[in-house]
Amino acid sequence: MSVVRFGVSLEHEMLESLDDYINDNQLANRSQAIRHLINNNQVEKKWQCNHIVAGSITLVYDHHKHDILNHLTQIQHEYQEVILSSQHFHLNHDKCMEIIAIKGKAVMLTRLADELIAVKGIQHGKLTMSRAD
Ligand code: NI
Repeated sequence: MSVVRFGVSLEHEMLESLDDYINDNQLANRSQAIRHLINNNQVEKKWQCNHIVAGSITLVYDHHKHDILNHLTQIQHEYQEVILSSQHFHLNHDKCMEIIAIKGKAVMLTRLADELIAVKGIQHGKLTMSRAD
């Protein structure tokens, strides 16, 4: 397979994150790291299908910021058929963590997670899924 070289422009912080990723995963260099990230992304894309999966969405946010609680509630009501339960933890004075248990078509869960994680003010968001069919 032929290899193509291209230049990448990144903010300092993102470059530091990339180098941390290289260290954490014991990769040889930045090219290998980018290959790794693209592969991971393709594996996740394979979930974008009609298999029934179960999993969780973890969200961390500052409940004072924006209109975040209303947004999160509104989105979850739109997807109520795939939400099994959700639990809210008050981590400190400002920070909350919400864990939402979900089951349904992978494509739906992925869409739900994307919408929740994209809400303004979300500091961390992660979807995990396992086959449930
Ligand atoms: Ni809270």
